Amino acid sequence: MKRITFCVLFFCAISISGFSQGKEIIKVETNDLIMIFSASKNENVIFEYWGDKLNDASVFVSKGFRSQPDSNKDSSPQIFPAYGGKLYLNPALRLTYHDGVLTTELEYVGMDKKTLDENRIETVIRLKDKIYPVFVDVHFVAYQKENIICQSVTVINDGKKNVSVENVASSYIPLHAQSYYLTHFHGTWAAEMQLKEEKLTPGVKIIESKKGVRTTQSESPSFLLSLNGPAQENSGEIYAGSLAWSGNFALSFEFDERGMLNILGGMNPFASTYHLLPKQKLQTPEMVLTYSSNGKGQITRNYHDWSRKYALQHGDKIRPIILNSWEGAYFNFDEKTLTDMMDNAAKFGIEMFVLDDGWFGNKYPRNGDNAGLGDWQVNAKKLPHGINYLADYAVAKGLKFGIWIEPEMVNPESDLAKKHPEWVVKSGARDILPMRNQWLLDLSNPLVQDFVFNTFDQVVSMSHNISYIKWDANRHVDNVGSDYLSKENQTHFWYDYVKGLYSVYDRIRAKYPDIEIQLCSSGGGRLDFGALKYHDEFWASDNTSPLNRIFIQYGSNTFFPAIATAAHVSTSPNHQTGQMLPLKFRFDVAMTGRLGMELQPKDIIGDDYEFAKNAIKDYKLIRPIVQFGDLYRLISPYDENGWSSLMYVSKDKKQAAFFAFSLKYHDRTTFFENKLNGLDPTKNYKVTEINIKSGHHSFSNNEKVYNGDYLMKVGLGMNIGNPFDSSVLLIEQQ
Ligand code: GLA
Repeated sequence: MKRITFCVLFFCAISISGFSQGKEIIKVETNDLIMIFSASKNENVIFEYWGDKLNDASVFVSKGFRSQPDSNKDSSPQIFPAYGGKLYLNPALRLTYHDGVLTTELEYVGMDKKTLDENRIETVIRLKDKIYPVFVDVHFVAYQKENIICQSVTVINDGKKNVSVENVASSYIPLHAQSYYLTHFHGTWAAEMQLKEEKLTPGVKIIESKKGVRTTQSESPSFLLSLNGPAQENSGEIYAGSLAWSGNFALSFEFDERGMLNILGGMNPFASTYHLLPKQKLQTPEMVLTYSSNGKGQITRNYHDWSRKYALQHGDKIRPIILNSWEGAYFNFDEKTLTDMMDNAAKFGIEMFVLDDGWFGNKYPRNGDNAGLGDWQVNAKKLPHGINYLADYAVAKGLKFGIWIEPEMVNPESDLAKKHPEWVVKSGARDILPMRNQWLLDLSNPLVQDFVFNTFDQVVSMSHNISYIKWDANRHVDNVGSDYLSKENQTHFWYDYVKGLYSVYDRIRAKYPDIEIQLCSSGGGRLDFGALKYHDEFWASDNTSPLNRIFIQYGSNTFFPAIATAAHVSTSPNHQTGQMLPLKFRFDVAMTGRLGMELQPKDIIGDDYEFAKNAIKDYKLIRPIVQFGDLYRLISPYDENGWSSLMYVSKDKKQAAFFAFSLKYHDRTTFFENKLNGLDPTKNYKVTEINIKSGHHSFSNNEKVYNGDYLMKVGLGMNIGNPFDSSVLLIEQQ
């Protein structure tokens, strides 16, 4: 009965799409963008077009001649190329059947289109293997206003025998241009999201992670692909994708002999064969796709709009200014240390205090990173009055209170490790290799999922005044293996771990919809849309040096918005880099994200004290613009001139906040000038410098009124030639 309803639905839906040259034309569209596929029954579906909307897509005819002598008969790209037939490229899908057959040939079955709400339309294109009872559903959810299309795939074993999924991507994008420039984001701990752009040459370039946890620490599953030249800010065709998955991933860019670029993105197939029993299915994560014919600035604004609405908790709520205890106290604190920090934080106008690592463990106290993880009871020696006392103290001072946990992990030196050795990720009898002195709990095991959920639940229950959790994860997966999974299914670990994590997040969000949660994994080690959607913000890096943060935040903010970018002012010399940088520079960089502090506030004295207090006041002034506005990058820190600038413009274009930074010494004759962007050319704007240190202005025409057109065509000049000079301007429509 179900099957019949399904077929009826499918075939009714066909009438929604058009037909051309005897083929059915299937369109996946947003307000400005469109993907076009053509399909004929019992043949494969062709990927015809992806880009700006056509004036009239109903008259779509395919491009025509595409074959060469002595080659594949038709080189039209398929919607989802499986390994089999005449496919010589890396496949989007590879299955092994019960009888040992290694190939798959997909044909079109039908499609379904559903309006989910006023902004989201779902399209499902259904394919089936020509011989075996395996269906492959290619899903698209098109977000109309944000011009985002999320693609995912479901493999369904509809037969009576097992099928092994060796590889299934989330998306496949075929492109054809004169040249291709890939921007990807590489890095390491304390240097995440470093932009690398390269011209692709024939062959395959793969960006991947096999680390299981902290999968985005050294490569990101987010990319830009520019056609016919390096990516520009305000011009040129750019395709972008970001995989919403917190596990192993692979992005493959295959430049083939036809001159085409074939982009595959999804879970990493490495050691990950997934066995589907009869009637089981496997659902891939979503690839979040967008396109712009006006450069990468628009790509960023699409992702930011979409994230605030769909990929972030409370994306419409202003974020509090935080003091985090880590760099100010590390593991060395008692109650008085913390209450003193809160007293001082309140004086600065800070709005939340977050107690970081070091508050738990009794038999194995957490006085360093070598003990205590897993034993989530408050350390009675350090904090004899408990968490409740501290949280109440914060609230009495007008601060919210937050606390750090790392519930996926366990130190060998803990009660938990002794009690549940079977919960630890391990490879048979091999040594369990510690990293940061800790082991990983096996989240493929439902009992471990319960433990992690209960940890969160119990920690939050320590006080009704806990309103924020910092969730950390400080190691990778190595010597992989699970005591829970059967020996045949050890390769399921990578998928089941992430699904286990997401099921814990789901339970937490069902019970605690209002709590704020920070996504942290030794800094930006888990920066992906899969995890972010359960969180309010992310810790971009453990590197708090503003000079490095300019680059890290440039990379992170290409996809993820400022409202979610935790950026803290720390002490000088910087603890990670030893750099000594001016307090104003440290504040100005942190103010381009969600401002916070991470130091001993009592050490900020004299002029610095007045400046910091005022900077926090100024941030409150521009906070809605930074957190809800449109980002316009103006000068990239990667340009060789040693300046960097950007601005946020409110959606109604009535206000803007402009930031400029000098990253090196500029000789006395070189001067800084910058054209603004994103303003209303027909309106007048007053330009006021804020965050001024000791009367030292960098902008000489303070409070002058300019026309928007003038600001964008002629621009402004600032005196910021010395290393680590910086300037912040508030721009207000008159
Ligand atoms: C990780 C985080 C830091 C801090 C420490 C605590 O490194 O990224 O911010 O919380 O753990 O151990």
